[in-house]
Amino acid sequence: MDYFHRKNGELFCEDMKVSDIVRRYRTPLYIYSLKTQVHHFEVTSRAFRDIPHLICYAAKANSNIAFLKTAALYGAGADVVSGGELQLALKAGIRGERIVFSGVGKEDSEIELALKSGILFICAESLPELERIEAVARKLKIPAPVAVRVNPDIDPETHPYIATGLKKTKFGMAEKEAKKAYVFCQGKKWLNPVGISMHIGSQVEKVRPYYAAASKIIGLYKKLRKQSINLKYIDIGGGWAAHFERKNKLPHPDDYVSALYDLLKELPVTVIAEPGRSIIANAGILVTRVIDIKKSEIKRFCVVDAGMNDFIRPALYGAVHRIEPVGLKPGSKTTYDVVGPVCESSDFLGKGLRLPRVKRGDLLALFTAGAYGWSMSSNYNSRPRTAEIAVAGKRCFMIRRRETAADLLRGQSVKGIDRKLIEGLK
Ligand code: LLP
Repeated sequence: MDYFHRKNGELFCEDMKVSDIVRRYRTPLYIYSLKTQVHHFEVTSRAFRDIPHLICYAAKANSNIAFLKTAALYGAGADVVSGGELQLALKAGIRGERIVFSGVGKEDSEIELALKSGILFICAESLPELERIEAVARKLKIPAPVAVRVNPDIDPETHPYIATGLKKTKFGMAEKEAKKAYVFCQGKKWLNPVGISMHIGSQVEKVRPYYAAASKIIGLYKKLRKQSINLKYIDIGGGWAAHFERKNKLPHPDDYVSALYDLLKELPVTVIAEPGRSIIANAGILVTRVIDIKKSEIKRFCVVDAGMNDFIRPALYGAVHRIEPVGLKPGSKTTYDVVGPVCESSDFLGKGLRLPRVKRGDLLALFTAGAYGWSMSSNYNSRPRTAEIAVAGKRCFMIRRRETAADLLRGQSVKGIDRKLIEGLK
């Protein structure tokens, strides 16, 4: 569901004409509908209406501080995976007690920051990590609230790069190890086991694996209760699917939650959910301008000004995103590979696409770009990263300015790299 629509063939984001926004801010450009983000918070919290819960927006999907601030104003928390994300979330006004810290490979300095921020809990990924959390907590004299992340060994039936709940992945602990982790916490003054967590993968398009994984961790939660280990939080992770095609039949947030309802009802816990993509993916588009149409012997390439550095999902996961002209004109369609200016053959936004005939200067919109779009962008090929614009009704806000050549140089230095040095290396 999103608030992008057409009037007389022209694409609108809420009440703003996309081509008008582009005239002001140029391309490539991420444009977001704030109403769409808020709508997805609404449907997510409505899905949990009968269960005590906290939605911790997964910042990695799109960590622009404007979206973290919307999350804060909505009353949501955040799921963070680095000191950087934690600082952004705090800066956006999300209180520590509404933030959970996930991810493999937390540095001691990040654990320290999390404890000083009064975090809700840290998801412990392994026994060695738990030992480090304890050491940091002891040093700071701040008891560490922890949740053990369980790897339920369930196939989420998604792209292998974003499947995280299988035994062969680096995430979480198997049930046996998880039990050891809780035993390890017993009697430890500086460790406070408050929760159990999972995250089986992203874009999980079926309820079944989600249910299977949740059953496992809730089973473990119950076993722990029998041993008088009473946890306050069950963190079911993120991973709910976003729509890539409007006609796709995918589970609604209600479907995921109602499948878990019987497992969760009457448990004296607060459920934590960590949705990222399902909140923000459909809120964003990437607008790009056609630089050239280039014909080879076997293909017609539509060369655009957004590359894999701006949007890496097609190159990295073979992701298929809907691409349409911003101004739709009637007429015959042609097959194009829509490619960027980066020097790699994996630099494509879409392949074999049937599009109305386009020419240099035309604008194209790539949909479902709000999640893992800008947040995964880079300066590869020394390309400045794009601006981001958020729209609310008739108003638009520049939530990130376009980078310049000066930004590319920022932090770099040639000090000490002189002729004498190079001569000496010959
Ligand atoms: N919680 C944890 C612990 C996670 O690792 C993730 C995502 C989420 C929550 C949020 O998942 P979501 O609701 O957004 O599916 N770059 C990939 C997606 C990587 C997801 C990594 N973890 C992509 O573009 O598809």
